[in-house]
Amino acid sequence: MKHILDELEQRRAGARLGGGERRIHAQHTRGKLTARERIELLLDTGSFEEFDTFVEHRCADFGMAKVKTPGDGVVTGWGTVNGRTVFVFAKDFTVFGGSLSEAHAAKITKIQDMALRTRAPIIGLFDAGGARIQEGVAALGGYGEVFKRNVIASGVIPQISVIMGPCAGGDVYSPAMTDFIFMVRDTSYMFVTGPEVVKTVTNETVTSEELGGATVHTTKSSVADGAYENDVECLLQMRRLIDFLPSNNQSGVPHWPSFDETERLDASLDTLVPDNPNKPYDMKELIGKLADEGDFFEIQSGFAANILTGLSRIAGRTVGFVANQPMVLAGVLDSDASRKAARFVRFCDAFEIPIVTLVDVPGFLPGTAQEYGGLIKHGAKLLFAYSQATVPLVTVITRKAFGGAYDVMASKHVGGDVNYAWPTAQIAVMGAKGAVEIIFRADIDDPEKIAERTREYEQRFLSPFVAAERGYIDEVITPRSTRKRIARALSMLASKKVETPSRKHDNMPL
Ligand code: HXC
Repeated sequence: MKHILDELEQRRAGARLGGGERRIHAQHTRGKLTARERIELLLDTGSFEEFDTFVEHRCADFGMAKVKTPGDGVVTGWGTVNGRTVFVFAKDFTVFGGSLSEAHAAKITKIQDMALRTRAPIIGLFDAGGARIQEGVAALGGYGEVFKRNVIASGVIPQISVIMGPCAGGDVYSPAMTDFIFMVRDTSYMFVTGPEVVKTVTNETVTSEELGGATVHTTKSSVADGAYENDVECLLQMRRLIDFLPSNNQSGVPHWPSFDETERLDASLDTLVPDNPNKPYDMKELIGKLADEGDFFEIQSGFAANILTGLSRIAGRTVGFVANQPMVLAGVLDSDASRKAARFVRFCDAFEIPIVTLVDVPGFLPGTAQEYGGLIKHGAKLLFAYSQATVPLVTVITRKAFGGAYDVMASKHVGGDVNYAWPTAQIAVMGAKGAVEIIFRADIDDPEKIAERTREYEQRFLSPFVAAERGYIDEVITPRSTRKRIARALSMLASKKVETPSRKHDNMPL
């Protein structure tokens, strides 16, 4: 028996070496951890249960029969994060660049199936060059199996992709169909085809960083939801993210004990909004003061910063915040902000995470650049997402809620359950100057008349009371009491149920 056990240990030790010491050293020299080191950091200590350690590829072309590595370039299994089950697969770049063979794909799909069956989140750590070139269509077929499962699991279990090395082909398309993508700065890249193919096809000379680095994908393309300085920071942040997420679409959000008093008042909020309506203030400060312990996991902080999206907790339970940010472009809604927020609203709705919307929005951004870029379609995405959401929706208008943006931002009319306004709220079709110049155009050359009309308009419309008179606002609240009001509303709404007519699926403006 000892001999048998020794052999098992020997085989395991061999498998743990992946592509060998030289390639592990190269991985470390590039500032990257190995697949197993990453899993160890991601999961609770000692909780990882590995599957398919000894799986090998079955390819015999191009001399492949002679080069077989147990595990075949991906480490798969399950473990826990703060005690909650998660499934994980980590591409091993030291084995054929982490590329995907038929056998490698079967290891991933086994984990995907198991995650779906047990309704637990799945996390993919990517560091891989796409389809195994030597295998041809067998590898492409493998990807198809992975993609199909990504889609079947979408909206049922959270799927997170972490890009931790150069990734191409299927190793970017599978992540693209998951809920979140996070990257590591300077060591991770995402592209459908790498710089060499780009040079051949388009004659463009571009570096990996310029083509698909973390900066590109978090600020320009919006493919990635965030980026971190190194592997360690990234994986620790993923543990933090998982703590916010429900295990599946029916489990409800996790409950973590909080030392933050739920009905805490905050007098500093009474002076958050400046006297001058054109002066910005930081909406992130408000989120920080509303959230348990000020904890806010921001999604897409580097993209369309005129809207904030992210996860927090109130009374120990996860909520999604969507908030206009007056510090950037006055918090205007443009195409990028609308797309960003729409995707986040749909994520929260799919996983039964209540949404708190904080509104200070001067409207949609005018101009040819926006119109040519499809502002109508992109703005409609956000309108569609909110109108479709059946999770509890609590809205607080802190200042401006102008025009179509008033309707869009979780107004009562599109499904807001509890809609509050601060006394500083201004709910109108547009700001006073623009409004007066249009409806009193005949008086435009008489500055005194215009000033008087402007005062009149401001008094009538630039307050929350016209909306409150109609019941569009449930209550005008003191800023200091906002956390308490939101917490109580969420508690009341916990049993919310909405029946929707049956249909195959909607046709949202993609
Ligand atoms: C087989 C691969 C491989 C692949 C890399 N390797 N990619 N082996 N199939 N797809 C191997 C290399 O031969 C090398 O082996 C080792 O992995 C490390 O690769 P390097 O090129 O030395 O590393 P680096 O310079 O860091 O470049 C990484 C890379 C590059 C950017 C990922 O390797 C690359 O461009 N690979 C090909 C990407 C690609 O076009 N894949 C197919 C996509 S099509 P040794 O033995 O030297 O260590 C696809 C279809 C899916 O995925 C369908 C989508 C819808």
